[in-house]
Amino acid sequence: MPVNSVSFLNLTPLRDEVKSVIEEVLEEGVFMNGKYLNRFKDSFSTYLKQDYVIPTANCTDSLEIILRSLEIKKGDEVITTAFSWFSDASVIQLLGAEIAFCDIDLNHFGIQISELEERISTKTKALILPHLFGLVHPEIEKIASICKKNNIHLIEDCAQAHGASLNGKLVGTFGDVAAFSFYPTKNLGALGDAGAIVTSNQKIAEKCNLWANHGQSGRNNHVQMGRNSRMDELQAAVLSSQLPFLDMNNTKRKKLAMLYYNGLNSLDLVLPMNSKGHVFHQFVIRTDRRDELRKYLLQKEIETDIHYPEALSDMAVFNNSSLCSNALKASKTVLSLPIHPMHTEEEINYVTKSVKLFFKD
Ligand SMILES: Cc1ncc(COP(=O)(O)O)c(C=O)c1O
Repeated sequence: MPVNSVSFLNLTPLRDEVKSVIEEVLEEGVFMNGKYLNRFKDSFSTYLKQDYVIPTANCTDSLEIILRSLEIKKGDEVITTAFSWFSDASVIQLLGAEIAFCDIDLNHFGIQISELEERISTKTKALILPHLFGLVHPEIEKIASICKKNNIHLIEDCAQAHGASLNGKLVGTFGDVAAFSFYPTKNLGALGDAGAIVTSNQKIAEKCNLWANHGQSGRNNHVQMGRNSRMDELQAAVLSSQLPFLDMNNTKRKKLAMLYYNGLNSLDLVLPMNSKGHVFHQFVIRTDRRDELRKYLLQKEIETDIHYPEALSDMAVFNNSSLCSNALKASKTVLSLPIHPMHTEEEINYVTKSVKLFFKD
């Protein structure tokens, strides 16, 4: 059947594995802190080859809990990028610390290294580094060594990059600690909110565990302040059943991305950086005619999205005076084209054909 419309995302139908594991949890009748949570912790820790996985309610909580565990407080500074999802900056401000925004490199949307070195001060305690759109920051090793040299904690935000790698090393294993989101649309998605903290640092793991679980070192033994940020059994079971498909789904995303690269390479637009370990959570192109193109594609019944229409450094809530011109430029020119393992090659070819027509007209 010829394709004449493409939705941005379609999260149905659910795999049989998901349906049957939900049945199992319902029959088990244990909905928190049961065997499925342990199964998820073990399987994710094995996948990442990291010692500790602390499941949480979502990635935003994970980031906040990490900052609390590192004892980030008022008077401290935390560096992050000016172009990402809200959480990377909001958690810093929530704790009363100062946000130091760094501009991005437009080639890969990751933090600009030269700016990072300039922003480090005696007050800097940590860097929250998002690996946006499924691409590990191409200079992550250098960033890790800058952080080490300056005694700054490197927190990787892996919300968009499950299974991504650089030179064979998986995302979430470069820094001191990493945060993951399993929001349903992510490369590894639950059926609601869920998140995790991953580390091989025992001290950080212990602290995060306390912060995520009411400060309890054992049942009813509250040794410090804490939050209630837990992953429930249903989400843990769903995630364990989906994890074995993560690499296969990422390969499918890469295959669809290649259709875009091959089809769009001669047009007047900027394609995303390609690399072997990219897992294409999004396929983000840049063009000065972004809004016009989006409207045109919608007329062809192709849904697109904008990640993100406003730079963090530009948001009034952050009351920040940094000028991050690349982040600003990105917010005005980025367009995310549909890319999901559920999409067919015919659908991606229809998008490609329509984008070409737009630039020809
Ligand atoms: C880069 C990034 N960081 C953090 C988050 C927050 O994740 P959650 O919705 O699980 O709190 C997201 C979610 O979209 C994200 O994309």
